[in-house]
Amino acid sequence: QQDPRIARISSAIRVIPDFPKPGIMFQDITTLLLDTKAFKDTIDLFVERYRDKNISVVAGVEARGFIFGPPIALAIGAKFVPMRKPNKLPGEVISEEYSLEYGTDKMEMHVGAVEAGEHALVIDDLIATGGTLCAAVKLLERVGVHVVECACVIELLGLKVC
Ligand code: PRP
Repeated sequence: QQDPRIARISSAIRVIPDFPKPGIMFQDITTLLLDTKAFKDTIDLFVERYRDKNISVVAGVEARGFIFGPPIALAIGAKFVPMRKPNKLPGEVISEEYSLEYGTDKMEMHVGAVEAGEHALVIDDLIATGGTLCAAVKLLERVGVHVVECACVIELLGLKVC
């Protein structure tokens, strides 16, 4: 039986057709952020799942992982590490290239933000093909971090490639 909070969260997410291009049904989480109860329920559901799991790192994927990641990190007593688009982080970075529908993109993380042996949770707003989250996992694993799970608010079904 589904947690009753999920229906409210789901209905607080606005779907905008044909954005940013024709045929895309954009899942707009900004309306979820306006609904204080649904936003809190969203964070609470993650916190309930991930507290007491020995997680010391919450890695948030740019851009909307930066909205959901920090409150989860604070609540479970973990640090927050941003996984950014290329050339945004000012310090030394390690990067991971990944495929998009057309072409490639890169994700970057600061060297020294995490230590080998730490346990991480990766957070984003949405999973579609899974390519973005795979890149985040690879980046963390390359520096010896154990990724406990990846978690998203929204899953687009039927698209996963990895
Ligand atoms: C969206 C979404 C995820 C990613 C999921 O980000 O927020 O990060 O796509 O897609 P995937 O599972 O197929 O990899 P977007 O590319 O729109 O970038 P943005 O967050 O910077 O707007």
